[in-house]
Amino acid sequence: MRILFIASEAFPLAKVGGLADVTSSLAIALQDFGHEPCLILPKYGSIKAPVQDVQGKSVAVSLMGHSEQVALKMTRLKKRIPVYLVENDDYFGTEEIYTRDELKRFLFFSLTIPAIISRLNLHPDIIHCHDWHTALTPLWLKKAKIKLPCIFTIHNLAYQGSFDQQFLSDSGLSSVWQEYIPVSAPRSSLNFMSQGILLADIVTTVSPSYASEILTPQYGEGLEQLLNYRRNELYGIVNGIDYDEYNPATDPYLERNYDSTTINRRSDNKLALQRKCRLPQDLDTPLVGMVSRLEEQKGIDLLLQAVDQFIVETRAQLVILGHGREHYHKLLAAAALKYPERISVFIATDERLARLIYSGSDMFLMPSRFEPCGLGQMIAMRYGAIPVVRHTGGLADTVRDVAEANGNGFVFQSYAFLDMLEAIKRAEESFYHRSEWQNLMRHNMKLDFSWKVSARKYEQIYLRARNVCQTGDIIQK
Ligand code: GLC
Repeated sequence: MRILFIASEAFPLAKVGGLADVTSSLAIALQDFGHEPCLILPKYGSIKAPVQDVQGKSVAVSLMGHSEQVALKMTRLKKRIPVYLVENDDYFGTEEIYTRDELKRFLFFSLTIPAIISRLNLHPDIIHCHDWHTALTPLWLKKAKIKLPCIFTIHNLAYQGSFDQQFLSDSGLSSVWQEYIPVSAPRSSLNFMSQGILLADIVTTVSPSYASEILTPQYGEGLEQLLNYRRNELYGIVNGIDYDEYNPATDPYLERNYDSTTINRRSDNKLALQRKCRLPQDLDTPLVGMVSRLEEQKGIDLLLQAVDQFIVETRAQLVILGHGREHYHKLLAAAALKYPERISVFIATDERLARLIYSGSDMFLMPSRFEPCGLGQMIAMRYGAIPVVRHTGGLADTVRDVAEANGNGFVFQSYAFLDMLEAIKRAEESFYHRSEWQNLMRHNMKLDFSWKVSARKYEQIYLRARNVCQTGDIIQK
């Protein structure tokens, strides 16, 4: 199948979070199965990869009464997957991906898609759109009378591309907003995501647990009625990670490489990490690591509430790497200043340090309020750091408490800092039983979180979307 991904991020060209890892590693996995994936991405000012001109190819798109030219460039992911980059300096020229005027930016991006598909003669069998930034694509395809199976994947329901009445009329969206939405559908709120949910042939999200959670008011972010309306075509597929990229036996960023048969070598990474963090270098002190966007979703407030008690009630060290809300930056930095022997904080995105944390810490903490999938826990397991997670979304689908059969981590249920602390303390206790702990590390390192299984599930979804699309427009007027 020729599969066309439409996305705002793809690693390594443009990355803010896990979305980027998933679009590129899923494309790679699909190509390994013999499919022909390609991607369309905006050409942000920060994309410095060498690009080729796509000879003589440009398209004109009008938005808010202005006709704009976009030029098409091309590059490849891992030298093998074509990525078409949409170039227009007014809309995409700035370095950041998510900007103040992102609504206009991604409205414009999605408007270019039908024109690009025709201009480049792409003839995709499947169009696969990722997250709100691309959620208007099915609408524009219908408008352009391009009938192609379309999948919409929700990576995070909390970001919807919401706007107000003013934007609706200024952008010209008001004339098409209801055009293809059946009268029986619940009223949709003003955001890009709702159109993707209603107009795609199939909606997926990135884990089975999150797929059922988002049908409830607690996790539905106000879109639960729409999602319930589409629940027969809503699927949850857990993400994989790229096993070539994340491999402790070959990872060039590590102090020392190792695998499940040589876990003792891992100590060198722990010592290097402690050195880098200016924490006492001691292999017998448990080290808890965290690599995360520093956003509300990720449970940073739980962590902040727990800090003082963590210091008193455990002997563990804590290292945090991430970037996000200014408010959290300040409070985390203050905690590190207060407990310099125990806590180390890096406000940054730093791939090298991230790898050292996965390979050098004993435990990996993810106390998320909600978590569509989460990739950190899977990377951590592959690198032998034991996950301590809250039971939600993809964390619930990939981490099972050691108290259960085949347990692989430490799990707490409610979003409460005392519960989190209790899970950390159980992990600490277990850490002091060396051979038990090492068995757990070896067990986790051998688990398979590659795309092997999940990419096959997407294959099934694509086939199903072709049927849905051919056997009548379930949801069109
Ligand atoms: C978003 C979600 C995260 C998920 C990732 C990739 O970043 O917050 O849970 O793993 O997308 O799907």
